[in-house]
Amino acid sequence: MAPEPIIAPAIALVANTFPDNPSDFQRDLLTWYRAHRRKLPWRETPSLYRTVVSEFMLQQTQIKTALPYFERWMDTLPDFSALAAAEETTVLKLWEGLGYYSRARNLHKMAQSFVALPHPPQSREEWQKLPGIGPYASAAIASIAQELPVACVDGNVVRILSRLTANGTPFRDSASASKAFTGLADQVLNHDHPGDHNQAMMELGATVCHRRSPLCTICPVHRHCSAGQAGDPESYPRLEKLKFENVAITRAWCVKQQRLLLHQIPKEAKRLAGQFELPSADQITIPENAPILATKKRGITRYRITETIKQINPPKSLPANLVWIALTDLESITLSGPHRRWVKELPKG
Ligand code: ADE
Repeated sequence: MAPEPIIAPAIALVANTFPDNPSDFQRDLLTWYRAHRRKLPWRETPSLYRTVVSEFMLQQTQIKTALPYFERWMDTLPDFSALAAAEETTVLKLWEGLGYYSRARNLHKMAQSFVALPHPPQSREEWQKLPGIGPYASAAIASIAQELPVACVDGNVVRILSRLTANGTPFRDSASASKAFTGLADQVLNHDHPGDHNQAMMELGATVCHRRSPLCTICPVHRHCSAGQAGDPESYPRLEKLKFENVAITRAWCVKQQRLLLHQIPKEAKRLAGQFELPSADQITIPENAPILATKKRGITRYRITETIKQINPPKSLPANLVWIALTDLESITLSGPHRRWVKELPKG
């Protein structure tokens, strides 16, 4: 049978009501969070700067991955002034491996705007005027670092709220779901402890209210949860399945006299400007019968990418934007995404 089509609503349809007393819910959630929260460096020694950097990183990756990046970042760029004054190459190098480099560039620009202000932004709206700060980050920073009463809505929060209310409204994507749940998130927000409340929601989503097989038996808010009580939490939220697209890319591996041939992404490029990567067949001729060194698979958003890396002979003349980089200099350049890993593991002899 064909699956029932999902039609995203043109307007938010989420009822702005909570089935029982929000203050009981808030208390149960906060008590759990304070007893069980993970010890994280930006929680143990909080500051406005540490909150901003951690929230930028956590929009990009999971806490486990972010931790060593966060420590290295703080060692090198300990405050807004240091970040504002840093070279872009330093910022990108510290971000290398987290992906989506425009976030790092925005964080850099944000610090430059921040140090030029007479005082830190005093509301969510003021935060959103700074580069790279949208609805989620402004709410996270204003509530966690300044105790302003604004609710964060990310994927975790949507999952929890849709289950609490057994709300089966279909959504096209998580951005439209987040928008639709903003009213309910505001309604359940604990105005006495907005920072801890928001972190508790995210923590509950990350450690208990999992997308698959949520741990309802140990959930601190199970008694408030309609879907949990009905035994079908996995039915919520109702998001349209991502349609995947397969993409095949062939890349060249060419080493000559202790140097590796790399493509430098032009400075004007929208994505990954100035960074290096293994040249693709768009940039250099790769013979059909060149030996295959490795086949790598990865996913970016809705793309399933298969990259075939082939060994080629050195070209007679160098195509545009291709450069020879000494093997001894590879550590000091910024390689985009998984290219760092590939360059480490492929044979240089
Ligand atoms: N995800 C993003 N920010 C977070 C935070 N402060 N605590 C837990 N999970 C998060």
